[in-house]
Amino acid sequence: MTRFALVGAGARAGMFIRALTTDHADVAQLVALADPNPARLAAHNRRLQDQGQEPIAAYDVSDFTEMLKRERVDVVLVTTVDRYHEQYLVAAMEAGCDAVTEKPMTTDAASCRRILATQRRTGRNVRVTFNYRYNPLHEAVKRELAQIGEIGSVHFEWLLDVRHGADYFRRWHRDKANSGGLLVHKAGHHFDLVNWWLDDEPETVFAAGRLFFYGEQGRRHGYARDYERAHGAADAEGDPFALRMADEPAMRELYLDAERHDGYLRDRNVFAPGVTIEDDMAVLVRYARGASMSYHLTAYAPWEGYRVMVNGSRGRLELEVVETDHVAPAAAAGVKGEPGSVSTAEQGWRRLLIRPFWAPPREIDVDGYSRQGHGGADVRMLADLIRPDAPADPLGRTANAVDGARALLTGLAANESLATGQAVRVQDLLDPEEIK
Ligand SMILES: NC(=O)c1ccc[n+]([C@@H]2O[C@H](COP(=O)([O-])OP(=O)(O)OC[C@H]3O[C@@H](n4cnc5c(N)ncnc54)[C@H](O)[C@@H]3O)[C@@H](O)[C@H]2O)c1
Repeated sequence: MTRFALVGAGARAGMFIRALTTDHADVAQLVALADPNPARLAAHNRRLQDQGQEPIAAYDVSDFTEMLKRERVDVVLVTTVDRYHEQYLVAAMEAGCDAVTEKPMTTDAASCRRILATQRRTGRNVRVTFNYRYNPLHEAVKRELAQIGEIGSVHFEWLLDVRHGADYFRRWHRDKANSGGLLVHKAGHHFDLVNWWLDDEPETVFAAGRLFFYGEQGRRHGYARDYERAHGAADAEGDPFALRMADEPAMRELYLDAERHDGYLRDRNVFAPGVTIEDDMAVLVRYARGASMSYHLTAYAPWEGYRVMVNGSRGRLELEVVETDHVAPAAAAGVKGEPGSVSTAEQGWRRLLIRPFWAPPREIDVDGYSRQGHGGADVRMLADLIRPDAPADPLGRTANAVDGARALLTGLAANESLATGQAVRVQDLLDPEEIK
């Protein structure tokens, strides 16, 4: 039995807690939870007890190292706010544990360097939960790319709709110090996919972007209401950007009822002051083996999904995914992935095409895609991360600290480019010798 502990008992933690205490309880044991907020720890334990499970030993984060020793932990799961990933990864490895961290691995080059150095010195194993790799469509891209020969370039556009995109502007992500901004926090998934698909790494990055739609700058578009946070604000009534926490039991117990301990507000007005991240970003990347990518992330789109176009020496691969074709007003005030957040009025479709030269396009059928859990990726990733008897991984989906660093570096270089207006060489952020 592998003994797991988890630090950062928020929303994402719930997925790991469920997996460890149900589907994979035959091979793994969750022995401890840590968080600075006692109400969130208690909420997770209440859920377990409601399902007839024993509560898990709960610790304040100040006792993290002591917890690892006392509970004889083998693997630490890090699901905290991004800026704190590094401190737990390093402490876990120093204590002789392996670690699994949520993406992004961290939020700046200095902490990335410390993670890589500690990993090399201790020889411990760090895995990064790039769940998008496990989406059946993305696995199919990895398999089918060989059909289009040598890769010349990638054109990649990702749209977050006014429900999902807005959510990053309500809470800790809105401060770049916490999340690295969406180029690190969100686009890191996409940059990792491209590194993995192309088996390559970024060399030079140029970016242009700004806060256009949300924040104080966005008030000019005419959607802003005057309240600081939605809960209890009369002005938030009927606002499609206002999160309703009181009506949703999971949101209420994890956030609303936990506020008194740390003042963490989950439902800030997306147009309230203090946003230091961008919502519209264009990035140009040159890869070490010569390919280029034009990438765009928009966080205020009317629909949610993405387009990936890969140009090769023997044709072109095109992936188009519409996760939801619009945000229905009745479901606008929810959070993606939470109950009630997708209305039946919202439709989706997907298409993966190979377009050879001088021949009609060929559609690739993909089994196993689901509109839940990131295209069905989460359950597949959990099995791979937790089970010692997980099926073989011929596509190399399991991501390690080097993969975590490479995905992060595209975003960090893009952030640096936004700040300086110059193209940024990745090696100026982190010595290639350190990414090994
Ligand atoms: N891979 C994915 O698809 C995916 C999806 C959602 C979230 N995530 C990742 O999961 C992580 C958590 O996100 P979330 O949505 O659950 O956020 P959340 O706000 O619900 O939870 C964050 C938790 O971190 C805790 N925390 C705050 N400061 C801390 C500190 N100093 N030390 C330890 N814990 C601290 C908070 O109390 C809270 O319980 C993030 O890194 C995010 O990127 C990944």
